[in-house]
Amino acid sequence: MATARPALARSTGAPAARIMAVGSYRPARVVTNAEVCERIDSSDEWIRERSGIIERRYAAKDESVADMSVAAAQVALRRAGVQPEQIGMVLVATVTHPYQTPAVATEISDRLGTLNAAAMDISAACAGFCYGVSLANDMIRGGSAQYVLVIGVEKLTDWVDPHDRGTAFIFADGAGAAVIGPSQEVGIGPTIWGADGSQRAAISMSQSLIDYRDNGGRIFPSLVMEGQQVFRWAVGEMSKTAQRAIDAAGITADDLAAFIPHQANMRITDAMIRAIGLPAHVPVARDIATTGNTSAASIPLAMDRMLQDGEIPSGGLALLIGFGAGLVYAAQVVILP
Ligand code: COA
Repeated sequence: MATARPALARSTGAPAARIMAVGSYRPARVVTNAEVCERIDSSDEWIRERSGIIERRYAAKDESVADMSVAAAQVALRRAGVQPEQIGMVLVATVTHPYQTPAVATEISDRLGTLNAAAMDISAACAGFCYGVSLANDMIRGGSAQYVLVIGVEKLTDWVDPHDRGTAFIFADGAGAAVIGPSQEVGIGPTIWGADGSQRAAISMSQSLIDYRDNGGRIFPSLVMEGQQVFRWAVGEMSKTAQRAIDAAGITADDLAAFIPHQANMRITDAMIRAIGLPAHVPVARDIATTGNTSAASIPLAMDRMLQDGEIPSGGLALLIGFGAGLVYAAQVVILP
């Protein structure tokens, strides 16, 4: 016979959520293509033509993922007018925190003074920020947090082989943060997301840390990438995902005030623009030119720069799409803070 039990209380959240503010942090050191080419057989011309990258930023040796995150988050919190104690969750999208445990989100939370927050990391590579935005949206509507701090941060220079021709010129360092909070109006549209794990070898590590230890620790694990495979997948599949996010939001591309794709490669961005027929009046993030590919950090870094430069309007609609190692992806239309 079933035991009689009381009904559990239902948690109640806000009707909707929105991005209240963003902040970002760019490391001071500018690294030119010429400097990258000191270690790989390449040229400034080839890198510009194939990736759109002119220069990128590298963090200092003693500058950590947590340091960059705290700097970006402090700006976002100040702009949002939200106190650290009001944050209910610190979500950190990163694949370059060098400790297996604990999550870097706990250190960041401690340093920010978000005393009432749960904290965890998200491992969704270059889709991590958009995964975080989606989770934050659901947490706020579900009632498990009132305000969520979403951070995208990478120190890829710790994990990329500077002598690898296929990756050394692409990846770089930086952090971006967003404060997401309750709203009456829908500020974050439906997320179209997924994962194609059958392609997990397309962007991966050269070996595990266990193999590194057991093989005598000679060659440190580094990021390896099947560039052409990723390129084809991104152009083909991500254009469809971007279109699905526009459709799911109940708008058309003409309604957009910004297109902010993950800054993977300028040619991928251009191919997506053509595939979705993005109207010429919609500003497009091209932050990769001076920032490189910063994986989870690239979308908030680009959004912050475009807002600060007055290139895109506060309150306008922006299409975000992140995609990368996994292969994982997520896209949503948001109202710009
Ligand atoms: N500098 C100069 N030449 C290079 C080079 C480099 N760094 N890397 C490769 N090449 C050469 C190759 O040797 C090859 O020469 P060949 O034609 O004489 O044989 C030629 O360039 C083409 O090589 P390929 O590997 O096909 O390059 P590509 O056109 O695919 O461009 C990438 C390489 C990495 C720029 C491109 O594949 C890419 O951007 N992929 C997507 C990667 C990405 O966005 N990753 C992030 C996702 S999160």
